Amino acid sequence: MEKTFAIIKPDAVAANQTGAILAEIQKAGFRIAGMKMKRLSQIEAENFYSVHKERPFYSSLVKFMTEGPVVVLALEAPDAIKKWRDTMGATNPANAAEGTIRKMFATSIERNCVHGSDAPETAAVEIPFFFAASELL
Ligand code: RTP
Ligand code: MG
Repeated sequence: MEKTFAIIKPDAVAANQTGAILAEIQKAGFRIAGMKMKRLSQIEAENFYSVHKERPFYSSLVKFMTEGPVVVLALEAPDAIKKWRDTMGATNPANAAEGTIRKMFATSIERNCVHGSDAPETAAVEIPFFFAASELL
């Protein structure tokens, strides 16, 4: 079993799509090992996306990720990291495959409803960024 880290982003939470996205997560066969709703602080969002700090979209991304509550998740499945990237679909919903969560719920390349770790090393940093060991059940 592998764990990955996911976020239901502020656009989807504000649009009352949390339940529908959780249903897709469960339909896809993930076990929810950790889940909480929170609002990211400026510092948390900057640090979480620090890999993108030189990118032109960084300040806009941080503003978006702090505009309202998010749901952070630790998801477990065989090959969870790749499986969750496949379930989410492409970053830009215009390029996302039919049936993916971003195809169904995202509205733009930025406001793309979900996040997922992109590699084992990323998941290993991102899960403890938001979850204490005691919160992973
Ligand atoms: P994520 O990290 O959120 O799972 O998304 P990703 O791997 O598919 O995409 P990434 O390249 O890591 O970009 C992180 C997030 O930044 C926003 N973005 N905006 N305006 C733009 O051109 C642009 N490009 C990326 C998106 O919210 C993207 O998910
Ligand atoms: Mg990424």
